[in-house]
Formats: sequence, structure tokens, C-alpha cells
Amino acid sequence: MKRHACRGFLLAVILVAAFSTVACDEALNSVTGPTPNLDVTFSSIQRDIFAARDSTGRPACTSCHSDAGARFNGLSLQTNAYENLVNAAARQRSGATRVIPGDPGNSYLIQKLEGRSGITGVRMPLGGPYLSEGQLLVIRRWIAIGAPNN
Ligand code: HEC
Repeated sequence: MKRHACRGFLLAVILVAAFSTVACDEALNSVTGPTPNLDVTFSSIQRDIFAARDSTGRPACTSCHSDAGARFNGLSLQTNAYENLVNAAARQRSGATRVIPGDPGNSYLIQKLEGRSGITGVRMPLGGPYLSEGQLLVIRRWIAIGAPNN
């Protein structure tokens, strides 16, 4: 019960203050999973999620979505990651946009990462392990505040 309340508090902290305060004895990395230094900026999302090693030891996204990975629906999350995501049309589903600033729910990136029923293809990362609740909250938050290139 106490643990639960603590976890809820931590999630609220992430949404409001983006990790600025942790007045709780539960480690922050139990919320963000393998990326405890994750911050609500694009550079942190790129470094601490896309290119960070997951529990299997491979870079979570860039092991496939690299500059050389045009076969993965033309989505490189390395050099031009921002341009390839924000206001960029999805390859797979016509009419869908990968990241719509201010609208996480309709952003195809979020739909793929959450494995929503409307997606084409499979949930990302392909084959898992999937992102933690905290990692998803940070990406959703970054989109909600306008998906800045920071
Ligand atoms: C093991 C390889 C692999 C990994 C790892 C992987 N992907 Fe993918 N990704 C693919 C393939 C293959 C497709 C195309 C087929 C599909 O969507 O199911 C794809 C498609 C996508 C699409 C849809 C692009 C479009 O415009 O249609 C998005 C968004 C995406 N991946 C994001 C990610 C993110 C973010 C990560 C990391 C959290 C990730 N992927 C990890 C292989 C991978």
C-alpha cells in the first residue's frame, strides 16, 4: 500500500516537474527502468532511450533504426532523428504522423511504442523488451509540451 502511494507520487512528479524532486525513498530508476537519468528533452530521449542499451545489451532502437537502417521504414533515430520524427509522415500507415507536437495520443510513435490496436506492423521495439511506464511518460510529456528540439 505504502509502495503504491509512493509510486503514484513519483509519476506525478515526473509529469509536473520532470524529475526535479524526488522526496521519496523509492529509487527513481524503478519508474524509468534502465534509464534513471532520463530527462524531458529530445537529446536525453535520444541518448537515454533510443541509443541506450536495453536489458539484452543492444541499443534499444538504434540497433535497427540507424543511419544505415533504411529498411526499417526509413526511420533513422541517429543523425536526423528529430527531422525523421517531428511532423514526419509515417511510412506504414497513410495519414499518420510520427510525432504531432502537442498531441501524444495521436502520434504514431506513441501508438507503436504502446502497441495500440490501430497500428500496422508490430509493437516497438520489435521483439521487446518494451519501454517502461516511466520512459513512455517522458516521451509523451516531451510531445505534449510541443516536441522541442532541445
Ligand atoms: C529489432 C529491430 C527493431 C528495433 C530494436 C526497433 N525497431 Fe522500430 N521498426 C522495425 C521494423 C522492422 C519496422 C517496420 C515494421 C513494423 O512497423 O512493424 C519498424 C517500424 C517502426 C516505426 C514505424 C515507422 C513508420 O513510419 O511506419 C516506429 C515509429 C518505430 N519503429 C519506432 C521504434 C522505436 C522508438 C524503437 C526503440 C524504442 C524501435 N522502433 C526499435 C525494427 C525495429
